Order: sequence, then structure tokens, then C-alpha cells
Amino acid sequence: MKVHGSVRVPGDKSISHRALLLAALGEGSSRITGILDSADVRSTAGVLRAMGVAVPPLAPSLVVKGRGARALTAPAVDLDCGNSGTTTRLAAGIVAAQSFAARFVGDASLSRRPMGRVARPLEAMGARVSYDAETGRLPMTVHGGALRDVDWTSETSSAQVKSAIVLAGVAAGVEVTVREPHRSRDHTERMLAARGVDVWVHDRAVHVPAGSRVAALDTAVPGDPSSAAFFAALGALGDVGTLQLPDVCLNPTRTGFFFALARMGARLTVDDERREGGEDVGTVVVEAGHPLRGTTVEADEVPSMIDELPLLACVAACAEGETVVRGAAELRVKESDRITAVVQALRAVGGEADELPDGFVVRGRGARAFRGAVATHADHRLAMAFGVLGALPRSDVVVDDPACVDVSFPGFWQALAGAVA
Ligand code: S3P
Repeated sequence: MKVHGSVRVPGDKSISHRALLLAALGEGSSRITGILDSADVRSTAGVLRAMGVAVPPLAPSLVVKGRGARALTAPAVDLDCGNSGTTTRLAAGIVAAQSFAARFVGDASLSRRPMGRVARPLEAMGARVSYDAETGRLPMTVHGGALRDVDWTSETSSAQVKSAIVLAGVAAGVEVTVREPHRSRDHTERMLAARGVDVWVHDRAVHVPAGSRVAALDTAVPGDPSSAAFFAALGALGDVGTLQLPDVCLNPTRTGFFFALARMGARLTVDDERREGGEDVGTVVVEAGHPLRGTTVEADEVPSMIDELPLLACVAACAEGETVVRGAAELRVKESDRITAVVQALRAVGGEADELPDGFVVRGRGARAFRGAVATHADHRLAMAFGVLGALPRSDVVVDDPACVDVSFPGFWQALAGAVA
């Protein structure tokens, strides 16, 4: 297979959500360029609009007029978070600091995902959280109020939980410390610091003092490394050629997949590395034609590639030898149970894989073709990971719900078709 050209992946999803949320809390107008226009980010925009923020339709350049940290208005409708865990959890933190209650709803996948992890710290800060039916699941109502300081140790290394607590603290003007087992993505910390908030990060802990205010700031959203990962994998699985992935966010809390791929034998380089808006950005260049071998991923590396682990499983099926991922039980509570789903899907297309309670084992048999039908469980990352396997020569992979990629990467299938000859 020949790979060629340059794929400009859409804006980073995590940064896009935060750019909108922080602009809404900001004092003044913030211009956002390069925002990801996908279903998940539209959910965040919709939630903010429901609370009185004038968010224009998502466009390559847009301006949000901030209302200030505690000046959102009570929504007249439910906050519909669609498929988006980031929207739900980060907005829950912000609502906790307001003087009203809001009911959060989502699609079937989101309604199965755990919300107690974010409700518990918000309750410890003084908010009240109630559920329509099952405790810890949507629909959930967050009753905001006067919050108090918190020093919270999170059981999971989740940037969504960390960010919810930090945003609640910033919006309420109270002091927060959040500790996590392993360091998760740090966009909230970086973006708040860029907006004038005193954020202290030490090892796996974040501290924000009382009395924070969020300044307005113009931001450019860099390309999403989680989207670029599919093309890095495609390039690495190619026989000849080079793929260029310009303007990708290379924040070290996000680059674990590139690191693992290089360790497996792929030839990856970074050109034009620079710092833009507090993030490292560069062009990832992947050279095809280098055989891959299996690798091991342990808990400390997991947060830096949490969303790329289904893709890693697919790449591992084309490597020589065994790949083992452990310490990744979080995968079971993503948009689908990504451990069961990826193992079943790999088996369905002729791969060899087994589940572990907290990860998986894939027995790779080198470069090869895959055939069969894949159940994505409406999970965008599974659809795209198996899309990459389907693009390999002589492969024939049918993904049951190709449109679900719109959650994070509208245009994925066209970009994929354009990258292979
Ligand atoms: C995200 C954090 C991760 C990731 C998700 C986006 C974020 O979730 O899986 O796609 O933007 O903070 P967790 O923080 O729950 O691991």
C-alpha cells in the first residue's frame, strides 16, 4: 500500500470544548479559530446557549462574548450533552457554581457512563446532585450553590473529573486541589493559566487558589492528536510513501500513541515544532515500510493514549508478536466498553485478541489483510480504528455505523480514501 500527501486533521476536541467553556466564563470577548465542528463540540455549544451564552454557529473563526464566571442563566430546557462525556462533566462543574439547577441528559451511550465520579467531588464542595433513576447515571440534575474549598483525591486519572473540579472552583472563586493517580491531559490547566488564573501543577496534583477570574483570550485550536493517530497508524502500516500531518497538538499528555508506535518500529518524526497558545504544535511525518513489533503498555502510559488504545489494538494485529495493554480499565466506561468491543471486533475480522479485566492482549501476525463485519456500538473511535484496517490492501472490513465518526472527525472517510493510493 502506498500512502501519500498531507492530512490536515480537524481541531482538537478537548481544546475545542474548553475554548468554548472558558470563553463563556471569561470577562470580555474571545475569538476562537480552528474549532472542531463536530457533534460533541456542538453539544457543548448547545449547553452554553441554553445557559444564556451567545455562542454563534461553529465556524472556522467565531467570537464568544463571555458572561463572567458566575453569571450564566438558569436553562429553560434540559442540557442535552448528546454523546459527549466531556460536555457533561465539565459543564456539571460550571453549573455547580451557579445559583440554579440544571438537568443533564444524553444519548444511550452517555446515559450508561458513570457520573458519580464527578458528582461526588462537586457534592463535597457543597453542590447537590440528584438522579432521575439510577444513582450515578444520566439524567442527572446538578443543583448549584455556594461552594467551599476542596482537596480531592481522584480514584481515576480522568481529565474530565479533574477539570470539573477545577472549573467549579474557578467559577465559584474557591480554592481547589485535585490529585490523580497518573497525570491526565492538562489542557484545562494550560488554558486557565493563559487566561490569567494562577494554576499550580506539581507532579500529579493541581492547585488553584481562591478568587480566580478568567480573562478573555483569542485562541487557535491545534489539530487533534487523537485524530492524527489514525493517519499515523495508516502511514506506519503502509509499504511505501510518506504521510504529513501538519499542525498537530503535541502536548506530552497526549502523545503516548505516537511514542508507542515509534517503539513498535514505526518511523515517525516531527517537523516545524513550535509553541502556539501554550501548546506544543508540529507536523508529524510518518514514513511507511518499516515492520512493526508488539509492545507493552502499562498504567502510567495509559492516560496519554487513552482514546487511541482501540487503534493500538488494530495496529498490534499487524505487528509481529504480542502486544499487551494493562491498567486501562477506564476503557470499559468510554463511549462503549472498548475492551470487549475491540477484542470482539478484531476477532470478527480475523485477528487474535483476548480481554484482560483492565486491558487486552493482541497476538499480531505481521502485515496482513482483514475481512469481516465490525459492530462499533456507535463508538466513533472504533469505527475509525477499523476503518484503518479496512484500508489495507485486500482487506474488506464493513463498519456497521460509519456516520458515528461525526462525533469527533467529520470527513474522516474522505480523508482516509485520499491518503492511500
Ligand atoms: C477528555 C478526557 C478523556 C478522554 C476524552 C476527552 C477531555 O476522558 O477519553 O475523550 O477532554 O478531558 P477521561 O478524562 O474521563 O479519561
